[in-house]
Amino acid sequence: MHDIIQQLEERRQRARLGGGQKRIDAQHAKGKLTARERLELLLDEGTFEEWDMFVEHRSHDFGMAENRPPGDGVVTGYGMINGRLVFVFSQDFTVFGGALSEAHAEKICKVMDQAMKVGAPVIGLNDSGGARIQEGVASLGGYAEVFQRNVMASGVVPQISLIMGPCAGGAVYSPAMTDFIFMVKDSSYMFVTGPDVVKTVTHEEVSAEDLGGALTHTTRSGVADLAFENDVDALAMLRRFFNYLPLNNRERAPTRPSDDPPDRSDLSLDSLVPDNPNLPYDIKELIVKVVDDGDFFELQPDHAKNIVVGFARMDGHAVGIVANQPLVLAGCLDIRSSIKAARFVRFCDAFNIPVLTFVDVPGFMPGTAQEYGGIIKHGAKLLYAYAECTVPKITVITRKAYGGAYDVMSSKHLRGDVNFAWPNAEIAVMGAKGAVEIIFREDKNDPAKLAAREAEYKQRFANPFIAGARGYIDDVIQPHETRKRICRSLVMLRDKKLENPWRKHGNIPL
Ligand code: COA
Repeated sequence: MHDIIQQLEERRQRARLGGGQKRIDAQHAKGKLTARERLELLLDEGTFEEWDMFVEHRSHDFGMAENRPPGDGVVTGYGMINGRLVFVFSQDFTVFGGALSEAHAEKICKVMDQAMKVGAPVIGLNDSGGARIQEGVASLGGYAEVFQRNVMASGVVPQISLIMGPCAGGAVYSPAMTDFIFMVKDSSYMFVTGPDVVKTVTHEEVSAEDLGGALTHTTRSGVADLAFENDVDALAMLRRFFNYLPLNNRERAPTRPSDDPPDRSDLSLDSLVPDNPNLPYDIKELIVKVVDDGDFFELQPDHAKNIVVGFARMDGHAVGIVANQPLVLAGCLDIRSSIKAARFVRFCDAFNIPVLTFVDVPGFMPGTAQEYGGIIKHGAKLLYAYAECTVPKITVITRKAYGGAYDVMSSKHLRGDVNFAWPNAEIAVMGAKGAVEIIFREDKNDPAKLAAREAEYKQRFANPFIAGARGYIDDVIQPHETRKRICRSLVMLRDKKLENPWRKHGNIPL
């Protein structure tokens, strides 16, 4: 028996070494941790239960029969993050560059299947050269098996991808279908075709970093939600992020008790919005002053900055926040911001997280670039997302809510549960100036008359009381009491029940 135990230990030791010390050293030299070191940081100490440590690939071609490292390039299993269950896979770049074989894919599929059975999130740490070239179509089949599970798990358990090395070709489509993608600066990249293929086909010269690095995807493309400085930082932030999420679509997100009183008022909010409606202010100032302990976990902070999305807590309960940002493009809705916010609202809706919306929107962005780019369909995504959303929805109009954008931003008409406005809110078809220029066109050469008309329009329509008179606004509130009123509304909405009609699935404008 002693010998057998000894053999087991030796086998384990071999598996733990992955592709060997030389390749581990090379991984470290690049500033990257190994697959196992990453899991140690991600999970609570001593909680990792590893599966399939002895799985080997089944390939015989190209000398592969003699080269069968145990584990086959991915470390899988489950563990805890702050005492809550999570399934994980971590690709091991030291073994065939983390390339995905049939057996490697089977290991990932196994933890995904189990996560679905027990209702727990899946976190994937990606660091891979892509399809295992020696295996050909068996490897491609493996990817598709993972993709299918990504889709089946979507909206059932949260799925998070952390890209910590290469992720190219077909490999990108598994992370793409997960709920959130985080990347590590300078050491990770994602692209469908690499710089060499790009050069051959389009004659563009671009580095891997510019084509698909963390900055590219968190600023230009919006593919990734956040970029972190290094592996350690990324894993620590992922643990923090995990605390906002429920384990599955039948549960609520965990609560975190706070000493921040739910009825705390903040008088500085009364002067947050400038008197001049054309002057901007930072909507994030409102967010941090309203949420528990000023703690706001923003997502995509450098992409489509005209809308702000992220998680926070109100009286200990997680909320998803969507807010127009007057500092950027005056808070207009455009293609990128609509897509960014729509996806976030849909995540919150799928996972029982109430949506809190702060509105200061002068309308949709005009221009050929937007129209040719399909703003009609992309703007409709956000409208659709809010309209189908059944979780508690609380809306606060802090200033402008003009035109169709008023409707879109979680209005009463889209089943907003509680709709507040600040006293200075302007809820109208458009701004006073534009309005009088259209309806009093005959006065266009008489500036004095136009100014008088504008003042009259403003006085009559640029306020929250017309909407209030129709019940589109439940109350006009003082800015300083915003936190208290939201917290109370959330308590009232705690057991909200609302279901959409049965259907196979809706047809969101894509
Ligand atoms: N299949 C099989 N083995 C692979 C692989 C793949 N897709 N990608 C990398 N490897 C192996 C390499 O052969 C190398 O093996 P070795 O340690 O025994 O020499 C090891 O992984 C590390 O790769 P290396 O090229 O030395 O690392 P790098 O950091 O310089 O480059 C990549 C990383 C991903 C850019 C590079 O390996 C690459 O281009 N791989 C192929 C990508 C691809 O075309 N994938 C298939 C389409 S999805």
